[in-house]
Amino acid sequence: MNIIELENVEKEYADRKAVGGISLSIKQGEVFGILGPNGAGKTTTLLMLSAQLQPTNGVVWFNQMELTKNMKKVKSSVGVVPQEIALYSEMNGFDNLYFFGSLYGMKRKELKKRVTSLLKITGLSDRAREPLSQYSGGMKRRINIAAALLHNPKVVLMDEPTVGIDPQSRIKIYKLIDLLKREGKTVIYTTHYMEEATSLCDRVAIIDHGKLLMLDSVSNLVDSVAAGIIEFQLRAHEQLEQALLEISHLPFVKEVENSGLKISIVVTMDIQEAIGTLMNKLQTKKILIENLVIMPPNLETVFLRLTGKALRE
Ligand SMILES: Nc1ncnc2c1ncn2[C@@H]1O[C@H](COP(=O)(O)OP(=O)(O)O)[C@@H](O)[C@H]1O
Ligand SMILES: [Mg+2]
Repeated sequence: MNIIELENVEKEYADRKAVGGISLSIKQGEVFGILGPNGAGKTTTLLMLSAQLQPTNGVVWFNQMELTKNMKKVKSSVGVVPQEIALYSEMNGFDNLYFFGSLYGMKRKELKKRVTSLLKITGLSDRAREPLSQYSGGMKRRINIAAALLHNPKVVLMDEPTVGIDPQSRIKIYKLIDLLKREGKTVIYTTHYMEEATSLCDRVAIIDHGKLLMLDSVSNLVDSVAAGIIEFQLRAHEQLEQALLEISHLPFVKEVENSGLKISIVVTMDIQEAIGTLMNKLQTKKILIENLVIMPPNLETVFLRLTGKALRE
């Protein structure tokens, strides 16, 4: 069953279109990733999914209800982890969560239990009595996530939850996402980290310039775009023209590009075989290279092919 559907959703700001007509469906219980370079429209999309921002055009359906007409219901079913930390730094972890929980009108006893349990699953029980100002960035992020889960929402949205935090906190967040999935919750989040998207997401949407470029499971995306990338640098300028010509004649080469002496090749066959044939060819023509980099087909190369940009640019 689909829990959320976007139908031709657009968001225009005064002078630009941040999201330019996206249609997609998110299934109940899946971990759904939104990948895109900076400025692609990820945050804007997430804000519209969670009823925090009204689309300029198009409709968002939540559980078959029109989102804009059922804001109250939707907000009670959705937990949002914003990109920025939205908590009180002079208050301790427990009190922060307790305070935000009381805003939802939760009863004292129930709230206390909930806060204690969330502190435990985010791995913060032993630091609960310290003010947030003494927390690391990763710990603050985990408290922020706990705050979004207080009212036990069915859908959890996270905007780049693992950016700029320590590896230990990152692993804890992965585990938490796993736990949420096992509880049957739908998790939607944006990320720049492809290892994360590959290992956690049931499906990913790749967006750029406010448009949906592709949506599928990572393995289907990799299969359908199926391209590895080989990059290297030529030693001598005089060999550039000849090298480009020789390379472009190889049957498995889909694209060749160069920037100065750096050559980038997109290949469609098994990358190890391609490397072998390519190296042979260059050797017989006495073309000298250095700094060879091989990228097998994965989400990163799919992303590069679709957007022309590296994920972590
Ligand atoms: N409040 C706003 N006013 C004007 N432009 C905005 C606003 N918020 C975002 N934008 C623009 O919309 C585009 C998409 O932004 P955003 O959704 O934040 O992208 P992402 O999260 O993928 O980095 C960007 O060009 C950004 O500058
Ligand atoms: Mg953003």
